[in-house]
Amino acid sequence: MFKNILVPLDGSKFSQQAAVAGIDLAAKYGSKIHFLTVTKKPSARVTQSIRRYMNVEQIMGEPEDLVEEMAREVLGKAERHARKKGVKVVKSTAASGQPARVILDFAKRSKADLIVIGSRGLGEIPGMLLGSVSLKVSSLATSPCLIVR
Ligand SMILES: Nc1ncnc2c1ncn2[C@@H]1O[C@H](COP(=O)(O)OP(=O)(O)O)[C@@H](O)[C@H]1O
Ligand SMILES: [Mg+2]
Repeated sequence: MFKNILVPLDGSKFSQQAAVAGIDLAAKYGSKIHFLTVTKKPSARVTQSIRRYMNVEQIMGEPEDLVEEMAREVLGKAERHARKKGVKVVKSTAASGQPARVILDFAKRSKADLIVIGSRGLGEIPGMLLGSVSLKVSSLATSPCLIVR
C-alpha cells in the first residue's frame, strides 16, 4: 500500500525516531522514501548570534550557509541510514518557509501516500503531546499519517 513515504525531519530525536520507523516500513514495503527538512531564514538577532559563533570558531562563510549545512547534515544522516537498511529509492529535499504548510504542500505535490512524523520536535514544551507542526500536518493531511512517539 505505501509506495511513497514522506518523513519530515527537524533534527530532533523525535524526528529521528520517525525516520527509523519510516525507513523500516520502506524497507518492508519496497517503498520510495523522501526526507524533507524545512528551514527558516534566521531572524536578524539569530543571524547575529550565529555570526559571533562563526567568528569564535573561525568558520568561514555566511550564517545562512551554516543553516543550510545543518539541513544537509540532518538529511544526509537519514539518507545513509535508509540506504544501509536496503531502501532502494532515497530522496531528500531542503525547503524554506512555514514548516507545516511546506510539508503539506510537498506531500500533495510528491503524491506521498504516508507521512511519518515525530510527535514533538526541537521546540519541546513539557506537557504537550503534540507539537504545532505534527498537529497541523496530521489534521490537514489528505494521506495517512503516522505519528511516532
Ligand atoms: N522545520 C521542520 N522541517 C521538517 N519537519 C519538521 C519541522 N518541524 C517539525 N517537523 C516535524 O514535526 C515533528 C513535530 O515537531 P513540532 O510539531 O515542531 O513539535 P515541537 O513543538 O515540539 O517543536 C518533528 O518530529 C518533525 O518530524
Ligand atoms: Mg518545532
